[in-house]
Amino acid sequence: MTTPLIERYRALLPVGDATPVISLGEGSTPLLRAPRLSERYGVELWLKWEGSNPTGSYKDRGMTVAVSKAVEQGAEALVCASTGNTAASAAAYGARAGLPVVVLVPEGAVAGAKLAQVRMLGARVLEARGSFDEALTAARVLADRGTHALVNSLNPNRVAGQKTAVHEIVEELGGAPDAFLIPYGGGGNTTAYSDALEELGLETPLVSVEAENRRETLASAIRIADPVHAPRVAETGARVLSASDDEIVEAWRELAAGEGVFCEPSSAAGLVAVRRGDVRGRVVVTLTGHGLKDVASADRHAPPARKVDSDPDAIAEAAR
Ligand code: F0G
Repeated sequence: MTTPLIERYRALLPVGDATPVISLGEGSTPLLRAPRLSERYGVELWLKWEGSNPTGSYKDRGMTVAVSKAVEQGAEALVCASTGNTAASAAAYGARAGLPVVVLVPEGAVAGAKLAQVRMLGARVLEARGSFDEALTAARVLADRGTHALVNSLNPNRVAGQKTAVHEIVEELGGAPDAFLIPYGGGGNTTAYSDALEELGLETPLVSVEAENRRETLASAIRIADPVHAPRVAETGARVLSASDDEIVEAWRELAAGEGVFCEPSSAAGLVAVRRGDVRGRVVVTLTGHGLKDVASADRHAPPARKVDSDPDAIAEAAR
């Protein structure tokens, strides 16, 4: 069995003997060499494949800690606002803990596969009219009433769990890379990576890539107009870059067809900085979520299947 993240990194996490471990086998994700893209862009590129977490995104790292602590503290229900992945993770860990979960999602703005995942996991899904930011405000108000524990990244236990990705990378490489590259939505993960670097005494550059058009990007996971962690992100010294949707789509397709790693569009944002030549040396791009999370976007951007007769000559011709 995969060692639960809480066991592997117990010493770094705000957990104690009385904390129950609510786990689905998160963390300990693959760190993959990317030989073709390394050669193409003149770097030593590594991919931290977070789509291989139990619910398909890096959110599980923080959620195992947040939900375990919520259970320890006697919470009776969980709430979050989400562009989809936090919701799926909260729903899964909530189900694992036997707690009811309410998720607020911006109406019409979450990938369908994520919504199906959340519904299947038994959470109460509320599609709030308005933006992600408005949904988050509502979730905070509900949490303040004391009925529900908030499991957004404003919950420090989430950020603590997410730090572990950096620890895994540094352990596996046997030292720090020359840069870490991650997508920037609300900024919780930038905060977590920066905390880990501080913990390790490293000054490795952290590059956080946001969507140029935050309100309308096709990368719906990071479609957040007003990042709640922006003040903290500014303090961290992370370099913030903005990527256009065209750049994100090109990077996304290149990771899939060039290296065999199918992530969701937002996850490819970090690669944009590599493609622009903004980083050098040994660089780690974190791919935050699985491609199957957003099949509708893949369907729109992948080459179509071709129809053939089931006849060997026709197939040989079409396969050329
Ligand atoms: N990548 C993916 C796949 C995400 O789902 C998110 C955020 C990010 C990157 C950005 O991370 O917000 O810490 O800067 N998703 C949140 C959610 C907002 O609700 O699932 P961030």
